[in-house]
Order: sequence, then structure tokens, then C-alpha cells
Amino acid sequence: MWWSCSSVIILTFSCGLQPGECQFSVTTDPVPGVNGYFPGTQNITLVCQVNEGGSRRATSWSKQTALDREEGRGRRTITSSGNNFDPNFLLSSQENIGQFGIPDTSILTIVSLTEDLNTTIIFCGFEEPLANFTIRINYPPVLTDRGEVRRRENEELSMDMAEPGSLLAFPFPSQVSWAKDGEEVAGGSSTRVFNYSSIFIGSVQPSDSGDYVLSATNYQLNGGPLLGSATASLTLNVLFGARYSGPGSGTVAVVEGESATLVCGTGLSGNPLPTLTWTDNTGRVATAGGRTSLSTGREVVSLTLSSTRQYDTGYWNCSAQVYDGANVVGQSVGRDIRLVVVVPPVAPVDLAVKGIGATWIYLQWFNPSAGLGNPPLSSHVVRVQEVGGEVEERTFDSSEGEANVTDLLPGTQYILSAVAVSQFQDLRAISPRSNSDSGTTTLTVPAPVCSDVPEVEDTRLA
Ligand SMILES: *[C@@H]1O[C@H](CO)[C@@H](O)[C@H](O)[C@H]1NC(C)=O
Ligand SMILES: *[C@@H]1O[C@H](CO)[C@@H](O)[C@H](O)[C@H]1NC(C)=O
Ligand SMILES: *[C@@H]1O[C@H](CO)[C@@H](O)[C@H](O)[C@H]1NC(C)=O
Ligand SMILES: *[C@@H]1O[C@H](CO)[C@@H](O)[C@H](O)[C@H]1NC(C)=O
Ligand SMILES: *[C@@H]1O[C@H](CO)[C@@H](O)[C@H](O)[C@H]1NC(C)=O
Ligand SMILES: *[C@@H]1O[C@H](CO)[C@@H](O)[C@H](O)[C@H]1NC(C)=O
Repeated sequence: MWWSCSSVIILTFSCGLQPGECQFSVTTDPVPGVNGYFPGTQNITLVCQVNEGGSRRATSWSKQTALDREEGRGRRTITSSGNNFDPNFLLSSQENIGQFGIPDTSILTIVSLTEDLNTTIIFCGFEEPLANFTIRINYPPVLTDRGEVRRRENEELSMDMAEPGSLLAFPFPSQVSWAKDGEEVAGGSSTRVFNYSSIFIGSVQPSDSGDYVLSATNYQLNGGPLLGSATASLTLNVLFGARYSGPGSGTVAVVEGESATLVCGTGLSGNPLPTLTWTDNTGRVATAGGRTSLSTGREVVSLTLSSTRQYDTGYWNCSAQVYDGANVVGQSVGRDIRLVVVVPPVAPVDLAVKGIGATWIYLQWFNPSAGLGNPPLSSHVVRVQEVGGEVEERTFDSSEGEANVTDLLPGTQYILSAVAVSQFQDLRAISPRSNSDSGTTTLTVPAPVCSDVPEVEDTRLA
């Protein structure tokens, strides 16, 4: 081969520089590499020109189709006639006849670009390829709407907006974006990936619910014009069990006859919306009507019982469940709300002074409520008021009807009263009921007189 760079003759006649060096340059149009084309529409011209130093000339074209590669065949020469005639191609002018009468420019026209030429590699060059061009069929993005997709909380979402095995756009879309409810989202973490046409969320959360839109746009190669764009959407509906964001009432205590509102919780959520069931203190399902009304909103889930009776006392149960068809989604949320309907304690009676010192007074009285049980007395309070002064309440942790009121100012007049307190703080009964009652007990603490036993005036009337 006298045009081979490795031959002695080449050293003499062609490369002409240093032994072993074979320099030439080649210009082509388009640039070698992968090129994207539309099938069928117009002629595509490939030009290959050797500019200098060449014993190798751009005299011939060859090709290797996808099928050739698949079947292990190499390049095959393209001819415009004869046995290997290929109707897709036209070999046209061969200009600028160079050394040895071999043309250094050759032009190949693809007159019919069909899809079976996709990924065909075209080589120019005599014997040794000087440049190659890979033909790709342009293809705009093709995406598919996925409509509504339901997942339960913590399940996986893995969805491709392109049909499996379908064409990916060529060239690869240079602009791909995902938006959720109109806001762009980007894939980053390993548990939440937005990657070209696919979306992957390892464990969906309620906040993942929303409308996802993928937009993809591709452009022709080498800064070419817009090729196509597509959008596809997916509505993710994450089903999750009932939950409250706020607490419930715990225990509700009311005076008999008043209304009671039992709050199961605030901020109830669940998807689909939870179904609520209340049962009363006997286990029967409580429905609206009569003394009972139910809150309809989700902000506050509550049951209100008007004019309470003592027999309403007990545990009322609210439960919220989310159904997906016949199946319960997630866990049901149930809470027992304790209702205590009480009668206020009866005011103490028979308040009496049983002892007195210079700075203390020992009082005794009788609690008619004690032992009757509803509600139990938890403590009692003695109200101590200097005449014309502030009322001071002193609490004694005992349900016994007695108290040693100490730290009094000698020679001062006090108005004293006993208060029975039930275990629900706001339920109390005062004896006497007010200072203006005829039953007010007014005592004067005597001035200390050495070791004398002080005289006490008991002005208690009731
Ligand atoms: C493509 O080339 C062929 C052969 O030169 C010619 O007949 C035809 O008109 C050309 N088509 C276009 C669209 O230029
Ligand atoms: C096409 O040309 C490139 C660049 O010169 C080269 O790296 C590649 O191997 C060639 N491809 C084939 C199939 O010869
Ligand atoms: C072209 O070939 C590539 C690689 O095999 C393939 O991914 C693409 O879908 C093909 N394009 C067309 C239009 O057939
Ligand atoms: C993105 O998708 C491509 C094509 O499906 C895949 O090859 C690649 O691994 C994906 N990347 C990630 C981070 O999942
Ligand atoms: C209240 O309801 C919840 C949920 O249905 C249940 O788990 C709980 O045992 C109920 N409590 C009573 C006292 O029935
Ligand atoms: C009341 O308390 C005072 C002061 O602590 C004490 O001196 C007095 O003995 C007490 N009185 C009675 C009857 O316990």
C-alpha cells in the first residue's frame, strides 16, 4: 500500500516531513461526530476534504449500519451503482484532483434518510477513515400523563413519564424541569429523585401530595433550533390515617345542669377525610340530637352535651378512622374523654371558735357535704379579712372541718369564713356566703397580755 504511512514510499512521497510522521488535515461539513436529522425531508450533504500532506485522499465513503454492528460486520463501501448500490445515497462531485490523480474532496448526499439509517456511521477516506459521522434521527420528547396516582403514606412512588422502551428524545432534552403545585422542585437526596422523565420518592409523606408537572425541551445539535417540547403531569394522592395536631380535653368537670363540651382534639387530618364516631359513657354510639350536638368542622372535633346530668359522668370515647374503600388506612385515633358532672358542695355550717391565742384562732365547723361523695372535698379554705382590708384565703389540706388560723395581728378585728372545696377547684361553697350575710363571723384577736388567758368575744350569730 503505497499510501500507507508505514510504508517506505510514504516517507518519500507523501508525508514528506519526518520519518513516521504523516500529517494532514481534513475539513468536513458537518463536523464529524453525532449529528441529528429529521427523516425523509431533505437531502443531507456530507463534504470531506483533505487539505494538506495527503497521500490519503477522501475518495471514498463507507458505512456501518446498526444491523452491520449487530451482525459483526465492518464498514462497507458506498457506491452509487453496481452490486452495492444503495438508493439512500448519491455520490456526487469529486473535485480538486490532487496528487496521483486522486480527488481530495468528495461529497456524499443522503437523498433519503429513513429510520433504518438511525445510528449508521458514515466514514470518509480512502482505505483509512479520515472522519466519521453518526446519523441519529431527531426525536422530540414524548411524555405521558399519568393522571392520579394513589399511594399510602410511607409507600414508594416510582414513576416514569416516558413509556417504558419508548424513544427517549434525541438530542437529550437540554431543559428538563419538574414542578410541584407550580413550584420548581429539584432531585437531590437519595430518597427523593427527579431524574429526567422519572420521579422516585422512597417513602411518600402527606406533604408529597400534589400536582407534579414535568417539562422537557430539546434542541437540534450544535446550537440548532428548538426541536420539540412536551409536558406531562401526575397527581399524587397520599392516603394517610387519622391524626390530631392538638390535644383533647382530658377531663371535663361541670356542675350539673350546665353544658359540657368534650374536645377530642384539634386539627384533625387524614386522607380521605376521617370518619368520626363518638360513644357515650355506656358504650352506645352518640348521635346528634336531643341534648347532644357534634362539631362538624375538623379544626375542633367536639361533642357538646347541654344540661348535663350526674349519670352522664364517665368516659366518652371518640374515634377517627380513615377508609380507603373497605380498608382502614393507618391507625385509628381514639381518645377517652372523662366527663364528671358534679353538684357543688354544701356550705359549711356551725362555724365556731374553739380556741384563741394572741396571734391565732382555732376554728371548727361542720361540712354537710363530707361523706356524701359527689364530689369529694379535697381541702378547705378559710377566708381571713381584716375589717376594711383585703380578703386572704388560706388553704388547709384536709377535709376535716377544723383549722388553726395563725399569724394574726393582736388587737385586730377579723371577718372569718370557711369554704368547702371540691376536688374540682372552681366548685366551692362558702359559709357564710358573703360578708353581708347575717352569718358573718367577726372575731377580735386580743392583744397579748403576758400569761393571762385572753377573753374572746364570739359574735357568731348563725
Ligand atoms: C436531493 O438530491 C437529488 C439528487 O441530486 C435531487 O434530485 C433532489 O431534487 C434533491 N432534493 C432536494 C429536496 O433538494
Ligand atoms: C469516529 O471518529 C472518532 C474521532 O476521530 C473516533 O474516536 C472513533 O473511533 C471513530 N469511530 C469509528 C467507529 O471508527
Ligand atoms: C435510534 O437508535 C437509538 C439507539 O439504538 C435508539 O435509542 C433510538 O430510539 C433510535 N431512534 C429511532 C427514531 O428509532
Ligand atoms: C437518571 O436516569 C438515567 C436514565 O434512566 C439513569 O441512567 C441514571 O442512573 C438516573 N440517575 C439517578 C441519580 O437515578
Ligand atoms: C376508645 O376508642 C379507641 C379507638 O377506637 C379504643 O382504642 C379505646 O379502647 C376506646 N376506649 C374505650 C374506653 O372504649
Ligand atoms: C395554733 O397554732 C399556734 C402557733 O403555731 C400554736 O401556738 C397553738 O397551740 C395552735 N393551737 C391549737 C389549738 O392547735
